[in-house]
Amino acid sequence: METIIVKKSGALNGHLKVNGSKNSILPILAASLLTREKCTLHEIPDLEDVHVMCDLLSNLGAKINKTNNNSLEIQVENIINYEAPYDLISKLRASFLVMGPLLSRINKAKVSMPGGCAIGTRPIDLHLKGFKNLNVDINFNRGYIQAQTEDIIGNNVYLDFPSVGATENLMMVACTAKGKTIIENCAEEPEIIDLANFINSMGGKIEGAGTKTITIVGVDELHGTEYTVIPDRIEAGTYMVAAVLTGGELYIDNVIPAHVQPVIAKLREVGAEVVESRNSVMVRSKGMINSTDIKTLPYPGFPTDMQAQFMLLLSLANGTSVINETIFENRFMHANELLRMGANIKIEGNTAIVNGLNSLTGTKVKATDLRAGAALILAGLVADGETEISEIHHIKRGYADIVEKLQAVGANIAYSM
Ligand code: EPZ
Repeated sequence: METIIVKKSGALNGHLKVNGSKNSILPILAASLLTREKCTLHEIPDLEDVHVMCDLLSNLGAKINKTNNNSLEIQVENIINYEAPYDLISKLRASFLVMGPLLSRINKAKVSMPGGCAIGTRPIDLHLKGFKNLNVDINFNRGYIQAQTEDIIGNNVYLDFPSVGATENLMMVACTAKGKTIIENCAEEPEIIDLANFINSMGGKIEGAGTKTITIVGVDELHGTEYTVIPDRIEAGTYMVAAVLTGGELYIDNVIPAHVQPVIAKLREVGAEVVESRNSVMVRSKGMINSTDIKTLPYPGFPTDMQAQFMLLLSLANGTSVINETIFENRFMHANELLRMGANIKIEGNTAIVNGLNSLTGTKVKATDLRAGAALILAGLVADGETEISEIHHIKRGYADIVEKLQAVGANIAYSM
């Protein structure tokens, strides 16, 4: 089984380029189903999740051609199948996002219930409630959701929670509905804005993305487009933490600073220097790591996808920090692995009390989800001795070239069979 071996490394210094956003690419790939014309996408990194989504779309009828190293052409002239099978949905929860576009394109979809994953039960009730509001019949049959409609009819939808996926699925199903749809209490993440911009570049009429209320006026059909996805703010945040953790200085290139403000604010609170430029940030450690408190919230609050990386950072802070995970009910599994490295963390429900220490000790650990895996790589950079990380398929889902990128700025890290 392939693992990643990380040895205590000195300060990381130099430049790191961030890839296109995984959490933008996945809904945008699904949205390419909305037109029979070709879509050309740029800044598409080589991620396992992208491969799985492309496999699913090919099953549905997509012709996909990877052009040069980071671009991809996709065209779904005809939908040849409207079923998203369990074996693909269970690998990649985001493949549930094909439901909206299939309904928009052919008024029917048969999608496996996605099931939970390590970080939580991951329900889809808000997606289904929204579809029903838009005149879609939903039935359950042997683990599959069967959805169909005569016509998608625009309506108002209130989301009880600003779910990213539900907001995305509903934008996609409403963009060719009859009439207007208003989604209230929707997600405001940058990836929502990116999806809305993509659909609008196809001729869609979506306004308000990035606010609590999105208005979609249905159009008859959408055309092909060419689009560059936004940079991955979570990959960027992960490398920003690495600079502070190792006492180094990193220039993180291909970043939209406005998308990483919560991470910048917290890194400044722990004592780092952060300089923002138009499309990059420089993060420099000032030697100390102060304790601070973290509460994960929907955007523009502190991102849950950065919680594991900060739990590690705060494990080495001066003093005690409190982390409150409000988005997922089981997103502290990385704490057990950090405890095995000597961290001092106490979990009480969805709160973690982190007592900072001077050092951690390298040992064998396993990745429990992709962000936990990234946090364990960072832990290995500063732990005494050697850290061997298994279950690294989690990491490959969301971090293209993380080993090569960290090697280039001084990390002692390598794959091992
Ligand atoms: C997206 O997942 C991201 N994934 C996640 O990133 C991210 O952690 C999450 O948003 C929150 O920011 C992608 O974009 C592919 P949600 P999603 O629907 O859409 C509850 C990563 O590491 N909920 O906003 O599944 C749900 O249980 C991944 O890159 C319902 O109750 O997240 C959870 O508690 C991990 N009913 C909360 O909302 C629903 O119908 C947030 O879920 C849907 C969600």
